[in-house]
Amino acid sequence: MNSIVDSRTPSAVAEAERYTAHNYHPLPVVIAEADGCWVTDIDGRRYLDFLSGYSALNFGHRHPALIAAAHAQLDKLTLTSRAFIHDQFAEFCQRLAELTGQDLVLPMNTGAEAVETAIKVARKWGYQVKGVPDGQAKIIVAADNFHGRTTTIISFSTDEDARADFGPYTPGFEIVPYGDLEALAEAVDDYTVAVLLEPIQGEAGVLVPPDGYLSGVRALCSQRNVLFLADEIQSGLARTGRTFAVDHEDVKPDMHIMGKALGGGIVPVSAVAASREVLGVLQPGQHGSTFGGNPLACAVGIEVVKLLETGEFQKRSADLGALLHEQLRALMGRGVTAVRGRGLWAGVDIDPAVMTGRQASEKLMARGMLAKDTHGTTIRLAPPLVIEEDEISWAVRQLAEVIGAA
Ligand SMILES: Cc1ncc(COP(=O)(O)O)c(C=O)c1O
Repeated sequence: MNSIVDSRTPSAVAEAERYTAHNYHPLPVVIAEADGCWVTDIDGRRYLDFLSGYSALNFGHRHPALIAAAHAQLDKLTLTSRAFIHDQFAEFCQRLAELTGQDLVLPMNTGAEAVETAIKVARKWGYQVKGVPDGQAKIIVAADNFHGRTTTIISFSTDEDARADFGPYTPGFEIVPYGDLEALAEAVDDYTVAVLLEPIQGEAGVLVPPDGYLSGVRALCSQRNVLFLADEIQSGLARTGRTFAVDHEDVKPDMHIMGKALGGGIVPVSAVAASREVLGVLQPGQHGSTFGGNPLACAVGIEVVKLLETGEFQKRSADLGALLHEQLRALMGRGVTAVRGRGLWAGVDIDPAVMTGRQASEKLMARGMLAKDTHGTTIRLAPPLVIEEDEISWAVRQLAEVIGAA
């Protein structure tokens, strides 16, 4: 390891700042390599990754099966566009349809594109199947949501940083409080085509809705002929101890929206999955993406679904998540004011009298642990699901020492 004096990090951080838009405020660490739960910076320092690329790295950095699939595919075929069919496409879509219990799959690239796809499909379903008058479709969303960064998606954000100065905004959305079934029921009218929700709100600070909320939303949507669109981009694919966060309430949404870990931390892969009645409204020319469902993405995606089919990662997240939450709860009242989450996913509120979330993240970084703050006082913990028990205990000990609870 290099000493601080010959550290290459400060100049590398300055260079990165100099040549990029400042739309992020990263921790001052420059990562060069990674394996499993650990990353190494350009000075040779190692860190335990407790962010996992916002859950894009659920299977860890460079999982051998995923890397092997990517390598093999790179040597055969990488892109065709959807103008032609390639030999990885059918298997990926079939496996993902089976994993979600849906009929059809539409692959895209980023999470925001998958959400845009869901919005377009729900509107078209509203006009063509439900019979909503043209141009009147309404989609209900929750306060404090995070669904991505496109102009339409930020139109229904309640986060001023995400929204301000990016208008004019896309109409057709109504915002209700998250977790409030009554407010949602009141908002539904004859023009409502969909309810779009995160089953657990990640960016808002890992907010878990009250028990019965998701099943209540399901029942309400069924009664009122409204689609339940579940944004599982961050909460899905084993992160919470089940394949999808809606599974905790045995809920099947009308559409699963997936991203992040679907690309195994290698390529951007997102998708929506729904019934034939819903996704079948799309006809040639009405939606698409040059890179969506490309051979490399599908080859990696197939291996991701195979890993999920084993159930191993869901079990690890459930078992090790119980340990993580138990250890975090022991810090309550000792610099921590709240702990939320499910599985290997936690939002930890730091007592503002002790320090900010950013300060905690910086101090953790200095001790070799990478986590990221959100909304001032919260830090999010979401390690790769391949993490081991002793690594979790080590990480919680670092947090305890940083906030003076040890
Ligand atoms: C719930 C949720 N939806 C959508 C997105 C957007 O995904 P992407 O950044 O890949 O566009 C995110 C990203 O954090 C997310 O957490």
